[in-house]
Amino acid sequence: MYKISFKPQKVPQIRTKYRTIKTQIPSPSFHNLYRRLSKYDAALKDVQLPILWDKAENSSVSDKDGNRWIDFTSSIFVTNSGHGNKEIKRGIIGQLNKPLLHSYIYPTEVKTEFLEELINITPDFCEKAYLFSAGTEATECALRIIRAYGQTFKKQRKVIVSFQGAMHGVTLGAEFLRGKPAALENIGYKDPYIYLLPFPLPWENHGSKKYDWSARFHQDMAVLKKQGLNFKDIAGFMVETFRGWGAIFYPKAYIQELAKFARKNKSLVAIDDIQGGLGRTGKLFAYEHYSIKPDLLCLGKGLSGSLPMSAILGRAKIVELPGVGDNTHSTHSGNPLSCAAALANLRYIRKHKLADTARIKGRILFGGLNKIKKKFSKRISYISGNGLIAAVLFKDPETGKPDAEFTSRVCERAMQKGLFLVHTWRESIKIAPPLTIPVVALKEGIKVLEESIAEIDHEN
Ligand SMILES: Cc1ncc(COP(=O)(O)O)c(C=O)c1O
Repeated sequence: MYKISFKPQKVPQIRTKYRTIKTQIPSPSFHNLYRRLSKYDAALKDVQLPILWDKAENSSVSDKDGNRWIDFTSSIFVTNSGHGNKEIKRGIIGQLNKPLLHSYIYPTEVKTEFLEELINITPDFCEKAYLFSAGTEATECALRIIRAYGQTFKKQRKVIVSFQGAMHGVTLGAEFLRGKPAALENIGYKDPYIYLLPFPLPWENHGSKKYDWSARFHQDMAVLKKQGLNFKDIAGFMVETFRGWGAIFYPKAYIQELAKFARKNKSLVAIDDIQGGLGRTGKLFAYEHYSIKPDLLCLGKGLSGSLPMSAILGRAKIVELPGVGDNTHSTHSGNPLSCAAALANLRYIRKHKLADTARIKGRILFGGLNKIKKKFSKRISYISGNGLIAAVLFKDPETGKPDAEFTSRVCERAMQKGLFLVHTWRESIKIAPPLTIPVVALKEGIKVLEESIAEIDHEN
């Protein structure tokens, strides 16, 4: 695996309206801070790129040395409304000055206003919500709700069908729903009531428009049946709106068939829209691309666009089933500062029609990416995504196999040139700028990406 250097490197200086690179990269201040932090921060090994975050405004991230990047990450798909959004800041400051910084689950005005706004902008089936801090708590709660629902039929109706490798968070339930063998081995056991479908990669149709994705769903279900699954034991399905690492959407017919099957089988469909929700994909909720009606909706990340906030929503009679019961809040659920941030954020998204913005700017993004793909057809195997979430998948020109090393080198080069991409450690880079990014900055970022690919291709 290619290791991006954390030692300062001499790189060409850059100064444009949206980018400044004036020191070695990684910068001296990154290097110093990294040395201090690495003594104590156990998670530092997971840092994707060696950039010190000092300030972030709209679609720019700056360090302490005066370097400035165009941000194509939105932190990690959080700041849909722009970094340091003024209206979100105003909401937080108002709450700070009250002051009311914590209130456990007691009623507050700000939580009431936030929930009213949330229920107002979400689809009809979202009648009530539980609030949490992390996305993983919301997906974990989905698991409990689905099981409680299954119990209203019969004791064994506990099965949840999810997708191999799906990202639902880092808690144990989320790990079971993902089913990554190494993680399960470490945990020491599996949840016997979770069955995993393979993710239907769109290129598995080998380019044939006639490929029957509905039939494919049933074939995959038949495999689970052979593994011992009784369909009548399925309490629900858990569906991430797209495959995270590659922003790869499911074939629409596959998900529609899944929803049809679930309805007929009286199983719930829970949507994990934690990454795709709140306008990112050109629709307010990413699952809307599939034209289905789910039962549960998990939101996080872009819900507050800043402070920790996640939620699960659904019909009152489902989310309030006995058995979901005692485990539906944690210490920081509905924290007043997070509620203030999320309230201001939702109002901003609605007022500025950010889903439409993402759709329009998405055309520019995908127009640019498709041109790059044509130019580097030997290097790029796939472009995926919707709106302002995209991924570029790289391959080895000789073998055609996924090329994670080339991808890391492109990320590193882009960083040295003032463009901040999501580095996935595999053959994909992900692109997710704040939806408020100026069009000129978006176009400049696409150009920097193209230059980075050209340079690394040339050096190879
Ligand atoms: C689709 C999806 N679900 C759940 C999560 C977990 O959210 P959190 O990291 O806030 O727990 C993530 C995080 O990346 C995600 O992408």
